[in-house]
Amino acid sequence: MPIPDEFIQELKARTDIVDVISGYVQLKRSGRSMMGLCPFHNERSPSFSVSRENGFFYCFGCGAGGDAITFIRRIENLDYVEAIKLLAQRAGLTVPEQGRDDGTGRLKTRLYEANREAARFYHKQLYSPSGKQALSYLRGRGLTEKTIIHFGLGYSPSDRFELVNHLRSKGFSNAEIIQANLANESRKGNPFDRFSDRVMFPIIDLRGNVIAFGGRIMSDIKPKYLNTSDTLVFNKSRNLFAMQFAKNKADGRLILVEGYMDVIALHQAGFENAVATLGTALTQEQAMLIKRYCDEVIICYDADEAGQKATARAISILRPTGLRIKIVTVPSGKDPDEFIKSYGEQGSARFAMLLDRSGNDIEYRLKKLRSRYNIDITDQKVGFMTQAAFLISEIDNPVEQDIYITRLSSELGIEKSAFRQLVDRSNRKKAREHIKFEQRQAQEKMSAGKDRLNVQKHYNLRAANAEEAILALMVLNPDTASYVASTLKSSSFVTDPNRRIFEVLISKLENSSEISLADLSGQLTQDEMSSLARMLASRPRENDPRAAADEYISVLLEEGEKMTPEQMAAADNDTIMEQLRKMKEKKQ
Ligand code: CTP
Ligand code: MN
Repeated sequence: MPIPDEFIQELKARTDIVDVISGYVQLKRSGRSMMGLCPFHNERSPSFSVSRENGFFYCFGCGAGGDAITFIRRIENLDYVEAIKLLAQRAGLTVPEQGRDDGTGRLKTRLYEANREAARFYHKQLYSPSGKQALSYLRGRGLTEKTIIHFGLGYSPSDRFELVNHLRSKGFSNAEIIQANLANESRKGNPFDRFSDRVMFPIIDLRGNVIAFGGRIMSDIKPKYLNTSDTLVFNKSRNLFAMQFAKNKADGRLILVEGYMDVIALHQAGFENAVATLGTALTQEQAMLIKRYCDEVIICYDADEAGQKATARAISILRPTGLRIKIVTVPSGKDPDEFIKSYGEQGSARFAMLLDRSGNDIEYRLKKLRSRYNIDITDQKVGFMTQAAFLISEIDNPVEQDIYITRLSSELGIEKSAFRQLVDRSNRKKAREHIKFEQRQAQEKMSAGKDRLNVQKHYNLRAANAEEAILALMVLNPDTASYVASTLKSSSFVTDPNRRIFEVLISKLENSSEISLADLSGQLTQDEMSSLARMLASRPRENDPRAAADEYISVLLEEGEKMTPEQMAAADNDTIMEQLRKMKEKKQ
């Protein structure tokens, strides 16, 4: 059942798109709209625009666009009904019951429920006779009772059917249990527990839903950790372990560590802004998520070679977001959990000292770079300086650049001005490359965004442009909308994607005198919403919308009479002659 239109109207009236988006993006006024850095792709100069008046956003860089509902869907990774719920909550409204049960929405709810029930079950097992070993394992690793409960840790029994049987007794179907990836399917099609005889770490999303698990074996058997595979409610590259706690404690900075145990040990020691990835290298989506909550990340990966490689990779993912990056190196090859534990009572104070001493990533990379050169040899010294200048030119802030230039030139015994020249040369090169890169990126995204939806536009440019102008006029001018609806038939549209949007607009007009984007996100796909937002964002304001509509309609009708190349090939002689005659008539 769809959500009733009246409710959407009410929600729309109480929702200010600028307010909603300001929660995620810093917006500045620019002419009729507000501009900011797009949260859906990496950019340094703003191409993301929001129109309060017309209730839509559009990014000229990557082509993302739509209304407040589309925005929340994309940024929170929610389906339509969930996004409505979130906005309703914000506006102090309650979504009518019948609106809640659309297909995937219901399945998702079931998977959340199954996961929550599983978490409860695992947690309870920890305090049962069979969970004894697991409980003493966790205590042996220094976790307090409070921490075990705070993180909802648990134990999955070794018998492969206990969770499945429990969930069945609670009314979950085999299909739901398998789709939540809590069970695997046997060759005969029967489910059996995915996790067995492991310590369980529930993974929880930002809204407090249990979405997945990590399970650690208590012996040396591999794999050490087993994680939930991606499901309808879980995407491992979009979530971070403990982010639901850390987001409220970030205060501008997060600590990024490698392991679940590291996060837990840090939180216990009072560093509740620690998070970890979920068994994979850091992704761009996770970097953007981090960016939403802070402006500084402290990477604190393991000191081993793998950890250092992962650090370099994480830096390259985080840097383009504009986050400040610091690196903490834990001494003597320990991971953060082992480090804290090794100092007992002092663990927390010791780790705070490490944080204090953490250098930024430039410092870290300069140190790495230097270790590769023997600067007593002139050639190598020059090589090091050139590379160092290149690194320093990555710093945006000139004052910060100067600090490194001063320090390095004094350390190496060279003229500061000579070194500065090297850095400046590198600065200019970087700037040129960066501009080229952004231009290319914008172009690629633009053309990809357009073509993805309307491949016919390329061959019917004039018609498609007229169609887009008509659609935009209809959304922006209520009077014109009803005029167009009574004048133009959908069969006159030349390109299919625009015709579909037109038909949705027309059906909306049957019950209401005007159209707004917020009414459409239920019927249009996200790509269609983006496409419509692009049409709105790129239209100038019309002085006489009615006359403009007439003009575009006549262009469209004219174009509609033309034959497509395929029709031309299939047509008989008479039809072609008739077509030619019409074309000549128009020219006179
Ligand atoms: N990991 C994984 N699968 C594995 C090994 C590791 O998903 N087979 C992920 C887990 O998220 C783990 C992280 O990588 O937390 C770091 O691995 P590691 O450093 O080996 O584990 P720790 O968290 O330090 O766990 P422990 O201290 O219990 O060994
Ligand atoms: Mn560890």
